[in-house]
Amino acid sequence: MPSSTLRVAFDRRGSVHDGNRAAAGRGPPYGLSLSAPPTMNDDPIAALTSLEAAGLAAFHEAKSPADVEAARIEFLGQKQGKIKAAQERLKSIPNDAKRAYGQRFNAVKMALEAACDSAKSRLDRPESVVGGIDVTRPGHPLPKLGHRHPLTQTAEELIDLFGRFGFSVARGPEVEDTFHNFEALNIPAVHPARDPSDNFYLSEDTLLRSQTSTVQIRVMKNQPPPVRVIAIGRVYRPDEVDATHSFMFHQVEGLMVDKGVTMADLKSVLRMFAQSYLGEDVKIRFRPSFFPFTEPSVEVDMMWHGGDRWVEMGGAGMVDPNVFKAVGYDPELVTGFAFGLGIERLCMRRHGIDDIRLLYQNDARFLAQF
Ligand code: DAH
Repeated sequence: MPSSTLRVAFDRRGSVHDGNRAAAGRGPPYGLSLSAPPTMNDDPIAALTSLEAAGLAAFHEAKSPADVEAARIEFLGQKQGKIKAAQERLKSIPNDAKRAYGQRFNAVKMALEAACDSAKSRLDRPESVVGGIDVTRPGHPLPKLGHRHPLTQTAEELIDLFGRFGFSVARGPEVEDTFHNFEALNIPAVHPARDPSDNFYLSEDTLLRSQTSTVQIRVMKNQPPPVRVIAIGRVYRPDEVDATHSFMFHQVEGLMVDKGVTMADLKSVLRMFAQSYLGEDVKIRFRPSFFPFTEPSVEVDMMWHGGDRWVEMGGAGMVDPNVFKAVGYDPELVTGFAFGLGIERLCMRRHGIDDIRLLYQNDARFLAQF
């Protein structure tokens, strides 16, 4: 038997040369190419290139999941796939060419795997319903659903900032009794602040609270010193509504009680707060004032960005001994400071809002800006 016939027969059973033609893909039947003149595919790198082209085309042209599966078996099949054969060919590549072959082989393998994946995801979805509507397409993005009100944002930021100074949050009711709103705060029955024309009374001894200082009393009645809390919430006063006044607004109340608390602590806390909330260049100043529940009492003014005007942000002072007595604290043992600031003012200052009414009208075009 002529040797060429032998070799063809040998090759048909799968010889070391198999990989060459397997990798070449659509070449002549096994064996025949051996006796044919050398083709491009005898160059192992070129063989990889044509394997790649054939595989990419097969995945690209697949029209159904079954086509993809057939192409996958032909090219990426674990046992008889053409990629597998190309990998085996590496053994027969001379050492100095192995590296180049290996690199190209990896690139081709990855390209075919990616093509297979994308063919799968292109075809592995339900048939579209009548009229060619593709029910699997992503929907239209939802319109923006809204966000928190600027006053709520301010309140949350205050909780965060004072939280860093060690203040926790306390709460109290908006419908309050005269003991917490007045008596315990050293505001006796005859005091003009209790006048019905200055408060929203619900009955003789209940009202919508006119200040968050009420929460100071509730906290101290509930726990022994030391105390370090803020209280945030609505307060109500029958004021004429204009650009800077409203019958309802929000306050942040602060209270710190411990041994040896001084006015210097008060000023430090308020200055650190003002600079954190409004900016490093914010200055603060205390002006002598009077509140029945603090002694001494001050008005807290702030000035920002080298402005030429001090703006009053609230009141503060050292807790009056009578307040301590009303809640059962010993004024000989502890001292404390308290403050109450307007949240609307802080928020308006922060955002450059010049009319308080804008905050309550809930016009979405206004609110969307914050
Ligand atoms: N409660 C006062 C007001 O509504 C503000 C205030 C002043 C609160 C002095 C305080 C304080 O805690 O110590 O105007």
